[in-house]
Amino acid sequence: MRIAIGADHAGYNYKNEIVSFLQEKSYEIMDFGADTPEATDYPDFAVLVAKAVSMGKCDFGVLICGTGIGMSIAANKVKGIRAAVVSTEFTAESSKTHNHANVICFGSRVNTIEEVLNFLEIYIKTEKSPDKRHINRVEKIGKYEEENE
Ligand code: RB5
Repeated sequence: MRIAIGADHAGYNYKNEIVSFLQEKSYEIMDFGADTPEATDYPDFAVLVAKAVSMGKCDFGVLICGTGIGMSIAANKVKGIRAAVVSTEFTAESSKTHNHANVICFGSRVNTIEEVLNFLEIYIKTEKSPDKRHINRVEKIGKYEEENE
């Protein structure tokens, strides 16, 4: 499994911790920065990660900023991206089962790194729900996107 990751200055330390955590588990990582803790703009990294996922270069993406919100707003502008802000075990699971999220966004000012690593593991091990209701809703989002390019 190949995972794209990106963060702004607020998520920089968490990104490094997440990269080490995933590499220890033998996942392949594409790290799109930031490469330093200097102040940066979250949309720059959100778009790079989202494009890698939408182009099929990675299986899913992880984005970290202060809240996860800015990253999700920016990532969701890229066609085919379903980016979810995850801040609890429940949202980690639901983002995969109900929403088929292909990018998950964390807030370093919202959750501890231990919580974030736990949410990430939950997201990875959870399967998309095969329930037609959820598939239908996700397909409606894709249909809207196709019809409003
Ligand atoms: C940076 O201060 C902060 O605004 C950013 O990391 C993020 O939380 C935006 O949504």
